[in-house]
Amino acid sequence: MKQLNINTSNQSYPVYIGNNILEEVPDLLGSFLGDKSKALIISDTNVSVLYGDKLKRILEPILPVSIVTVPNGEHSKSMASYEKLLTACIEEGLDRQSVIFALGGGVIGDLAGFSAATYMRGIPFVQVPTTLLAHDSSVGGKTGINHSLGKNLIGAFHQPSAVLYDTGTLTTLPDEEWRSGFAEMIKHAYIQDPDFLHWLKENVKTIADVKTDKIRQFLKRSIAVKAEIVKEDEKEAGIRAFLNFGHTLGHALEKNSGYDGQITHGEAVAAGMVFAMRLSNELGLSAWKVSEEIDWLKSLGYPVEAPSQYSVQKLIEAMKKDKKASAGNIKFVLLKEPGRPFLYTIDEKLLFELLSNDRRGMTRND
Ligand SMILES: NC(=O)c1ccc[n+]([C@@H]2O[C@H](COP(=O)([O-])OP(=O)(O)OC[C@H]3O[C@@H](n4cnc5c(N)ncnc54)[C@H](O)[C@@H]3O)[C@@H](O)[C@H]2O)c1
Repeated sequence: MKQLNINTSNQSYPVYIGNNILEEVPDLLGSFLGDKSKALIISDTNVSVLYGDKLKRILEPILPVSIVTVPNGEHSKSMASYEKLLTACIEEGLDRQSVIFALGGGVIGDLAGFSAATYMRGIPFVQVPTTLLAHDSSVGGKTGINHSLGKNLIGAFHQPSAVLYDTGTLTTLPDEEWRSGFAEMIKHAYIQDPDFLHWLKENVKTIADVKTDKIRQFLKRSIAVKAEIVKEDEKEAGIRAFLNFGHTLGHALEKNSGYDGQITHGEAVAAGMVFAMRLSNELGLSAWKVSEEIDWLKSLGYPVEAPSQYSVQKLIEAMKKDKKASAGNIKFVLLKEPGRPFLYTIDEKLLFELLSNDRRGMTRND
């Protein structure tokens, strides 16, 4: 088993990574759970069938447990699901000594975390990530839901009490979700850890190469990047914003897709990272030759340009409503080179031109 600690100004908590570590919950979390009154497992319909009963069985000797589920998918990061979960908290009699377990991918982590952050002004929660992507979302304390006008617009910072990453749960993860999750790992490597990037490029030629015993090493290294950033800037007053590399266009693509599974979060982020790399070049802000990177991402099956069904104007409208925008000004995280990210506010007309040209393949010097 691998362990890391996440340290923020208010709180420190462990991240345990290992195969079948759910069975070790009584040892790992016994003292934390000892004084808790009740546990509520929040999961989605897919994950609950696979691992809900198992986690319940493991927790039951320690404290009373119930389970509530929401449908799988991004649509569940909604006001309606949030209300359903708070109703479950009240009906199940959760109090301030109770604990929520978020069993699932990033959707469940964000939604259950936000429920924990706001129920009775905040109760503890434990992240139990079951997707590769959730190695990113389960650490760092960003919780929230979407509004019909934009993604993640409603939320709170609320750090979990622990993260239990049972890599055994990844065996049932569909291929497209491995690809989606690996994009966030690549993002961590690009913004902060060029050696890790090199290692990934050497070892991962296809997504099948991620699904090996090396996964626990990859996870530890990638989570370590996030841990370092969160330690320095828990509330995104500075460098934490670099974690949004690829997300300005990525979130706009997701918003325009209607969150209906046409494009996964990671695919959208990958297309966004490629656009940001090209943008850094186009604007003369980096001399970095990005063709090798784009070839690598393409060979892993990621979209390397914004899919043509989304109108450029609508993508820009979505970017203006993004959390990262200020006073309607659109901000991108760009790279001078791997490991050297910076924030850039772009003129809307110029962005329109570059995004239109990029789609027509006119601005490629990569
Ligand atoms: N809070 C943060 O810091 C942060 C960071 C990155 C992403 N996110 C958020 O994470 C979300 C995306 O997370 P995601 O990609 O994990 O999506 P997800 O939670 O929707 O999971 C993807 C799909 O995989 C299924 N699934 C999950 N675990 C499984 C398993 N072990 N076996 C089989 N199927 C399984 C789910 O039911 C779902 O259908 C987005 O909403 C994004 O905004 C948050």
